[in-house]
Amino acid sequence: MKGDHFLVELGVDGALKNSEENIISLQNLWLVLESQAGPVEILRGIDFDVSKGESVVVSGHSGAGKTSLMMVIGGMEKPTKGKVQVAGYELNQLNENGLARYRRNNVGIIFQSFHLIPTMTALENVAIPLELSGIAGARSKAEADLVAVDLGERLNHYPSQLSGGEQQRVAIARALISEPDVILADEPTGNLDQANSQKIMELLFEKCNEKNATLILITHQTDLTQSYQRHVELSDGRIVSNLV
Ligand SMILES: Nc1ncnc2c1ncn2[C@@H]1O[C@H](COP(=O)(O)OP(=O)(O)OP(=O)(O)O)[C@@H](O)[C@H]1O
Ligand SMILES: [Mg+2]
Repeated sequence: MKGDHFLVELGVDGALKNSEENIISLQNLWLVLESQAGPVEILRGIDFDVSKGESVVVSGHSGAGKTSLMMVIGGMEKPTKGKVQVAGYELNQLNENGLARYRRNNVGIIFQSFHLIPTMTALENVAIPLELSGIAGARSKAEADLVAVDLGERLNHYPSQLSGGEQQRVAIARALISEPDVILADEPTGNLDQANSQKIMELLFEKCNEKNATLILITHQTDLTQSYQRHVELSDGRIVSNLV
């Protein structure tokens, strides 16, 4: 009996199959959206596991489904079919409140166009997730995190007074301040020049590593870094390669 249990835990290839080992687990994930021309199959049977602390680069042609996959993992889009487990939650079983809590506590998101609040300073933008959660010391933590991304001299600048690279560093600090399990970054260097892109990517890997956050990074610029541990390629809603 004990032996059987052990076999189940180890799996046939000897790898641990304990679900806690995978921070993200997607099983036969489908996303079908209605359009005027009829249903569009956007994600078509995605199976994908990511272990805690892993950094994964996702690439693929325009329209391949990269952003859609990120939206499903981030609890912003409900899949049509399949299982989505992230950070111990089965997303299909969470109601709207549960999903909102999951997004706030477990996920940090970074967009191509920064998405900072224009009427707030860099410091306020970084502090806001903690302030919304009612956590004391939000401002001093935000200040320390901005210093850590080399923006100690820009705390009171508004987004319009910051360069693109600086805005993205603010966005990285904001995404990480709640110490989420998973960071989702959708072409975070898409609006930056080559030199800044490289710096931002390395900063992202470094900070996620420091916090043991799992990173899913959508980018076409795979040549700018070697810091990732897995490279997944999507094409027409399917994973066509998954290389460690
Ligand atoms: N709400 C929607 N209704 C119907 N189709 C949609 C909807 N949103 C996205 N799509 C389609 O789904 C496909 C995948 O879109 P997605 O944004 O995930 O691609 P992507 O890989 O991120 O592309 P890009 O590199 O251009 O950002 C595209 O063909 C897109 O037109
Ligand atoms: Mg996209």
